[in-house]
Amino acid sequence: MPDLWQDAMDHAVAVAKKAGEIIRDALQNDMKVMCKSSSVDLVTKTDQKVEQLIIASVKEKFPEHGFIGEESVADGQPCVLSDSPTWIVDPVDGTTNFVHGYPFVAVCIGFAVNKKLEFGVVYSCIEDKMYTARRGKGAFCNGESLQVSDQKDINQSIIATEFGSDRDPEVVEKIFSNMRKILCLPVHGMRGAGSAAINMCLVASGCVEAYYEIGVHCWDVAAAAVIVEEAGGVLMDLEGGPMDLMSRRIIAANNKTIAERISKEIEAYPALRDDAPPGTTE
Ligand code: IPD
Ligand code: CA
Repeated sequence: MPDLWQDAMDHAVAVAKKAGEIIRDALQNDMKVMCKSSSVDLVTKTDQKVEQLIIASVKEKFPEHGFIGEESVADGQPCVLSDSPTWIVDPVDGTTNFVHGYPFVAVCIGFAVNKKLEFGVVYSCIEDKMYTARRGKGAFCNGESLQVSDQKDINQSIIATEFGSDRDPEVVEKIFSNMRKILCLPVHGMRGAGSAAINMCLVASGCVEAYYEIGVHCWDVAAAAVIVEEAGGVLMDLEGGPMDLMSRRIIAANNKTIAERISKEIEAYPALRDDAPPGTTE
């Protein structure tokens, strides 16, 4: 049976490559850095230009499809996942890395139909690593098959997380308290690449057992979610149920044992949902 969405996925890979070239070129030039929700929530002209390029190119080929894009949402577009085919785009995941030349920056393109993710493309463009996964067909990096680690013991694991961009002292306190709990289990180590999507691709690659974060957005994790699952991993909410793309909380792990252990250890506070009506505050 022909794969209905293979053409869309091929297009996503091609446009992610083009986007990656623009990002790499931009690193050679002076960039104008702007702030969004706070002085540490950064955006550049490149983020905006790359998102416009991706959306325009997809719209031309698939005019009836919908979009959720980080910079379009920042610009006031709705962030609603309907049953229609929807492209979920983060033009630059790891904008702070990009601004500082820290070499983990990814173009993320996820695609959902009936609210189910069908494929994901994460292009870590400075490393030139193209991660791809089509539902039911496995996960790959530059064409090589990916498999999560088979480690079941969290004490023998590396766990990734991030500090995020919320500097409210209470939130920072919770982040550190959760990190302290995980670190002192003890685990072999904790890491953070500065890109949610790349952390998840490292889980899919088998060199990190799990990644968790509160405060991520659907565009940071949608594409990489398919890659983790297709590499044999699991996605979970921080309170142990199924992962909800709009909830801004995620555990991505090599297996259920490690995911459940993380969920048991950490305090899973709620974050303002991505699909909260405009004007809603926490
Ligand atoms: C951010 C990165 C960061 C994570 C934040 C994300 P952005 O995405 O993935 O690692 O901690 O939660 O929002 O802003 O660079 O696209
Ligand atoms: Ca981004």
